[in-house]
Amino acid sequence: MKRMLSGIKPTGRVTLGNYIGAIKPFVSYQDEYEMYIFIANLHSMTIYQEPKELRQNTKDLIALYIAAGLDPKKVTLFLQSDVLEHAQLGWYLGCMVNMGELSRMTQYKDKVSKNETIGAGIFNYPSLMNADILMYDPDYVPVGEDQKQHVELCRDIAERFNKRYSDTFKIPEPLVAKVGGRIMDLQNPTKKMSKSAETSKGCIYILDDIQVSKKKIKSAVTDSDGHIHYDPINKPGISNLLEIYSILSNKPIKDIEKQYEGQGYGVFKNDLAEIVGQELEKIQARYREITSGSYLDDVLEEGAQKARNIARKKLAKVERKIGITIKKK
Ligand code: AMP
Ligand code: TRP
Repeated sequence: MKRMLSGIKPTGRVTLGNYIGAIKPFVSYQDEYEMYIFIANLHSMTIYQEPKELRQNTKDLIALYIAAGLDPKKVTLFLQSDVLEHAQLGWYLGCMVNMGELSRMTQYKDKVSKNETIGAGIFNYPSLMNADILMYDPDYVPVGEDQKQHVELCRDIAERFNKRYSDTFKIPEPLVAKVGGRIMDLQNPTKKMSKSAETSKGCIYILDDIQVSKKKIKSAVTDSDGHIHYDPINKPGISNLLEIYSILSNKPIKDIEKQYEGQGYGVFKNDLAEIVGQELEKIQARYREITSGSYLDDVLEEGAQKARNIARKKLAKVERKIGITIKKK
């Protein structure tokens, strides 16, 4: 069985974009792959997190993964901070990456261009991410489009390490979903739907009130030509809604276009609002069940133990190869 690994940061509330672009694909992979999914809470510290909110967002995120259908019996689910080896390997890998390589990362460049004071964590971010990945030798790393560059850097660093020492890390492949890789803001469909958007009108949260979420779909910005057709360049609003519809209903976009031929945007949006509402209702009911007892703590403890078993061995191997370990055995 091929191995897959991915992490998601507990920053802000989980959006429909996260659900479609990251969580839902994981659920579909879990029978086919050996999966490792973790909450990247160390990465979240690169931007100040209000402690109470961070705690809540972390719990919500793990609960939402499970509520969305991820089965902790099949998937190893854990908190990054529970496996101390990540930070240690991150240090070694950070010593192998060049400043120039880190400076070329879009995520870092975006932050710098905003001219805000930024912490060194943003710059070093990819080294820790490289450790997260290489620790577990995954074949595939499913990520959103914005993270592809980081996984590519990870491949370079793995190759560099393998060449300098000897074969140690598997070279991972990024896996970016073709549809749903980039769900757009409902009010500004040329911008990614994001929890950090200025207004929440264009962003649906998975724990949103159902009526509110439906309203957000119905008031999504479209265009005036009235034709339901997929064309992300000229019709970004409708194309975005078509992607959401297609993923949540499991229907190809072509079929949906045909189904709504000759009908206005109103009918289409009303139907999509119902589909989104039903999906959220299902997840929220399960979320309430999961968060009522100590179930989550148990899941995380079990996940951390499984992850630690692998991480401990991998780190020991790395430390032997690079000369850090001096003990014979
Ligand atoms: P973030 O919310 O930026 O921390 O991203 C968490 C995960 O969700 C990453 O894999 C992102 O690529 C994915 N993601 C975030 N926003 C979207 C979006 N609007 N559309 C698709 N995927 C997204
Ligand atoms: N950087 C990823 C994001 O912002 C989160 C992440 C951290 C991750 N470590 C990872 C994703 C390892 C995949 C693999 O979404």
